[in-house]
Amino acid sequence: MNATNNTPAIGGVKLRNRVALAPMAGICDQTYRRLATAQGVGFVCTEMISAKGLLYHNEKTLRMLALAEDEHPVAVQIFGHVPEELAKAAQIVAQAGADIIDLNMGCPVAKVVKNGDGSALLRDVPQAAACIAAMADAVDVPVTAKIRLGWDDDSRNAVAVARALACLF
Ligand SMILES: Cc1cc2nc3c(=O)[nH]c(=O)nc-3n(C[C@H](O)[C@H](O)[C@H](O)COP(=O)(O)O)c2cc1C
Repeated sequence: MNATNNTPAIGGVKLRNRVALAPMAGICDQTYRRLATAQGVGFVCTEMISAKGLLYHNEKTLRMLALAEDEHPVAVQIFGHVPEELAKAAQIVAQAGADIIDLNMGCPVAKVVKNGDGSALLRDVPQAAACIAAMADAVDVPVTAKIRLGWDDDSRNAVAVARALACLF
């Protein structure tokens, strides 16, 4: 996060303040995000949305992408692990009006990590970097990554991951 004249911002996107609504699957639907915005959070984030689902025009997935006028600035979080797919998904998300696009690199749920998505990306830093690079090349809005300390206690590599991603820019 950078700040100019005390206004917090991510990339060029100005935020109302430094309090964010965290992405929460099953919680952060449009109604919840609008309530949080009305209550004064600095910016909101969607539930994680499947990149594959967006590419396959899955109806339920596309519904999750509906953004309201009064919830900006809004980050849309996607998950996946294939750079080309994530790049295309990022374009769909940008087209839908997202101010920021976040890549989920933290979800530990079995059905997500077994596909190489979510926190599984922390185990393959070059792959994680390739995903972020592809997304950032594909869109003009800021691309962020939500990471964990590491895959497990024996592999706490958050600093290495952050450095690898920051080095791309
Ligand atoms: C019900 C629930 C769903 C969540 N879904 C997501 C998600 O979709 N994407 C994500 O990056 N983190 C997800 N998280 C993690 C939160 O964004 C957050 O990082 C975590 O709850 C730690 O914050 P806390 O200490 O304030 O609870 C979820 C957490 C909860 C409790």
